[in-house]
Parts: sequence; C-alpha cells; structure tokens
Amino acid sequence: MSEIAPAPLRFMTCGSVDDGKSTLIGRLLYEQNLIFGDHAEALARDSQKHGTTGDEVDYALLLDGLEAEREQGITIDVAYRYFSTARRAFIVADSPGHEQYTRNMATAASNAELAVLLVDARKGLLVQTRRHALITSLLGIRHAVLAVNKIDLVDYDRTVFETIAADFVRFVGPLGFKAITCIPISARGGDNVSARSARTPWYTGPHLMEHLETVETDDERAIGPLRLPVQWVNRPDADFRGFCGTIVGGQLKPDDAVVVLPSGWETRVQRVLGGEGDSDAARAGDAVTVTLADEVDVARGDMLVAPRDRPQVADQFAAHVVWMSVDRLLPGRSYLMQINHNALPATVTEIKHRIDIDSQAKLAAKSLGLNEIGVCNLSVARPIAFDAYADNRDTGAFILIDRFSNETVAAGMIDFALRRATNIYRHDHTVSKAVRVALKAHRPAVLWFTGLSGSGKSTVANLVEADLNARGAHTVLLDGDNIRHGLNKDLGFTEVDRVENIRRVGEVAKLMTEAGLIVLCSFISPFRAERDMMRELLDEGEFIEIFVDTPLDECIARDPKGLYRRALAGEIKNFTGINAPYEAPKNPELHLETAKVSADLLARTVVDELTRRGIV
Ligand code: ADX
Repeated sequence: MSEIAPAPLRFMTCGSVDDGKSTLIGRLLYEQNLIFGDHAEALARDSQKHGTTGDEVDYALLLDGLEAEREQGITIDVAYRYFSTARRAFIVADSPGHEQYTRNMATAASNAELAVLLVDARKGLLVQTRRHALITSLLGIRHAVLAVNKIDLVDYDRTVFETIAADFVRFVGPLGFKAITCIPISARGGDNVSARSARTPWYTGPHLMEHLETVETDDERAIGPLRLPVQWVNRPDADFRGFCGTIVGGQLKPDDAVVVLPSGWETRVQRVLGGEGDSDAARAGDAVTVTLADEVDVARGDMLVAPRDRPQVADQFAAHVVWMSVDRLLPGRSYLMQINHNALPATVTEIKHRIDIDSQAKLAAKSLGLNEIGVCNLSVARPIAFDAYADNRDTGAFILIDRFSNETVAAGMIDFALRRATNIYRHDHTVSKAVRVALKAHRPAVLWFTGLSGSGKSTVANLVEADLNARGAHTVLLDGDNIRHGLNKDLGFTEVDRVENIRRVGEVAKLMTEAGLIVLCSFISPFRAERDMMRELLDEGEFIEIFVDTPLDECIARDPKGLYRRALAGEIKNFTGINAPYEAPKNPELHLETAKVSADLLARTVVDELTRRGIV
C-alpha cells in the first residue's frame, strides 16, 4: 500500500437504451465492493492529500463537482457513484440514454475526464453513439473508450468487433480526442470487464478496469494561468472583505499579483484562506477565500486572473451550442446566460451552421431544435471575462436559460471573442435625449399595440395618433404591414422571422424615443419574450403595452384583408391564430376589448391613460 494512488478518475458512461449500461456499472460496483476495505482507505488517503479535513474523511470531495453544477442549474438526472479499487478511486456519472436526454449527458460530460461509450455488438454505431461522441468531445473530454458490449451474443467474433472499432475510430478521428480505446466486453458474462477473457484470445489490449485504473488524465487546469471566478463577497464586518470561489485555473499564493476583470484593477493577494484557515498556496479545484492588498471593487461574477495571461473580455463571441429544449432556438430572442457566476441577458445574433451528427457536415440553419448542435455568434448585455473552452473548460462554458420557464435550454462552449462592438465607442453627443425631450411638450413613449391580425390594432392606433397630433404631440406610427414593405421586406412569418421582425422594430422604436417622439407600434407581435425584451430596452415607464383583445371568431368574421379565409383554406402557412400561436399579454398596461367598445372610445381610453401617466 505504499505506492501513491493516482488521482480519482471522473468518468461517464453513455449508451442507448438496452446497450447494457446499467449491467456494466452494476458489475463494476459489485466486483469492486468485494474489496470494501480498500475503498474506505483510498477515500481517506485522498482526503488527506487534499488536506481540507485533517485526518477525517472528506466526503465533500466527492460532491465538489456536483455543487458547482447544481449552481449552474443543469443537473437533472445524473447519478454519481463512487467506488475504488486498490489502485484508484473512481467517480462515475451515469445519465439516462434516451435521445431527449442530451441535457443529462451534457451535465455528466462537463465534469468528466473520460467517457465510456457503450454499443451493442449486434447493432454497431448508432446515431446516438455518434451524438454522444460528438458532445463528449465538445465538452472537452479527451479520453474515449468504446465498449463493444454483448460480444458473447455475436459469438466473440473478432471481425464484428474490429469493424465496429474501425467505424468508431473513423468517426471520432476529427473530434480531437487524445486517446481512443476500443474493448470487446460482455457486461453480463464479465468478459474483459475486470479480467481478461479467455473467450476473446484475439484481443490483446487491456480489460476495461485495467484501462480505467491506469489511464493518465492529468488535470491541465492547474498548469494554466490563474482563474478565480468570484462566487460571492464575504463581508462579515468593516474590517474583512474576502472574495470566495473555486479556483478553476492555475495557482494562487499570498503576495501574488492579480488583476480583477472586467474592471482591470491590478492588486496583490494578501491572504488565501481554505477550509482550515490561512494557507500558503491553493490550486485549481480548491475552494478559497482571498483578501486583497488594496481596496478594489470586486463583485460576484468578476474574475481574479494572472496579470500576464489574461482571459478575453468581450460582449460578443462565437460558440458551439448544444440545444436541449423542445422549443427551438430563436436568434434575436433574449435568453438568460449563466457564465462564471454572472447571469445576464444574451441573444444568439447568428447561427453560422448546424453540425450534422452523422457526417459532421456543416449545414445551413436558421434555428436549432432539440439535441441539435450549432456554431453560433452570441451577444451579451455587457462585457464579461472568459477563455476559449479549449483553453479552460470552466471559464469557457455557459448555459442559456429560458426567461419564462426557467428551463436550461442550451449548453455552450466558447470558441473565440468577436471584436465587433468592442472597437466601437459610444459618443456622448452635445444634444442628449434629455435635451431633445425638453424641447417637446410631452414625454417620449412607445405605445405597443399587440393582438391578432384584424383585431383592430391599426384602427385604434390611427385614431390615437390623430388625437395626439391634434394636441401638438410629436408622434410616429410603425405598422407591421408598412414596415414589412421596407426595412423588413426580407422577413416572412416563421417564428424565427417574427422574432427578428420585432427585434428590429424594437431598436427603431428605441431610437425614436431618443428623438423624443411618442412611437405607436402596431404589430401582431405574438411572443411574450420579444414584447418583454422591448420593455427592457426602454427606460422605466416608457413602454405601454396595449392588448387589442378581439376574439378569434370576431377577427375571422371581420377578415378585412381576406387573409383568414385563405389561411383557413390552407393557402397561408403559419397564420397567427389559425396555425401559429399568439401569446396574450399577462399584465398589459391597457386591455382593449374591441368587440364590446367602439374604436373611438378605446382611442380615448388610450389618450386618457397617457394623460394619467403624465406623458401628454
Ligand atoms: S408579426 O407577427 O411579425 O408581429 P406583423 O404585425 O409584422 O406580424 O405583420 C402582420 C400582418 O402581416 C398581418 O396584419 C397580415 O396582414 C399580414 N400577414 C401575412 N401573412 C401572415 C401570417 N402568416 N400571419 C400573420 N399575419 C400575416
């Protein structure tokens, strides 16, 4: 027992239903539990090595990674199991294998160093196997093991194994794995699982356990430059200000020079505190509290980094995105991005291409569906510090969250920063918005009329504008039918195009409020997300959402442009209310029911509301 045990191996297993994954894990655990004494010993030894709990066993070591993930919010259905042999300790992440569980897979992969991909020898590589290989490689796993299971059911046939292995090697060739190992096994019969099988004399490689025990997956993070994303600021009293987080790159000791990003402040480390109090050094993987020599401003989401090897700071970047939701990715829609303890609005500004799982070919795409992988440009609300995922799997990873359902919809891996708006500076003009507004006898606002086609949006908006104009207010009316003949003539009525339609109109409306105008917008704008984005884009109190609520039957009966008749006859695709959705506002500033009240009266209601709000 004098030999030094290698670091615990974090690995994951992936397979399709019925590939025998559970049997394999069950067998591994069962066979190793027979040496339970070693299990306990290895854990104790490991705990001492990390030195956070003195002589006590530190079970938290097993959970560190999990905590980090839970905080990122992607943990769904991944089971982690710990076991050990005389030679090594293991943490295995097991995720369900159904197609729709990409999310679980990605969760497991983000924390593993090695992936065991299972295939059924009778079936060979499936689309799923390819997808799993692709995702594990994207998520930075550099060691792949292909376990060709149920080799007993093909009579231990060498050719079957070799054909599948060759297929696999060919497929993963371009994916950047450092080591690929293929092993013929029978999880049920125990062949090549924990001992070499006499029934595959033609196979000369290691058995699975032997490979897992000996594979070297040195943690490169500790070698890289310092990265300490600040998770929270600990300020118990006026005398102490500590910055807490887990080091995800490099090392740190008292007196080291550090830079705080994105602010760029330079200072020195004063104290490094671990679980045991002051410590002379900490490294990647350690949770620490750091105090700094100067009183610099540091907040959650900032990053302490090595001055001479800094991450990038930008608000736009290119990334690989694994989409995990049944609702499609819509470029232009605002999602919440979580990255390095920041949560900030983000949009996909462009999908460069989608990656075909089977051929790895780059396909044109306007959106991404469940389980699809794409290369995208993204834009976030303010500059943040990050590394390319290839350089650091922690600081280069993010997730996207749907702002309404709170569901994690994507996992992303940053490729590189885009130098777009970064070299463009905003001018401070002499004539500001406030100066322009002061010239007018009213405040700027956006009156956003939303509702079905034919609901009466434009009719009411038109009357409101006439009234405002008569009062001397400076207005402009943007209308779907008109804008779609000019600025947005390249857009149709798919979800993707409607999101872009409203995004552009939103930017235009915002510019016009800066001119001091009252902007009337009349658009179906069927999605809550885009209307809410408009609200966020504007100053407090500037966005007045007006729900022009007319029952669908009434709109069909009115049918001013004859479009409902054609839509019902199947001649128009994606027609709102007929075969495309409309999400009614939940808390509009005004709710107008056109079937009950005349347009003139409704227009007056709107103007009265503007008066009440002090806009006119
Ligand atoms: S939005 O959904 O993207 O906000 P917008 O208000 O710009 O739509 O345009 C709606 C107008 O386009 C409708 O009033 C109607 O005249 C016309 N139109 C043509 N095709 C469709 C369609 N498939 N769905 C809805 N409106 C359509």
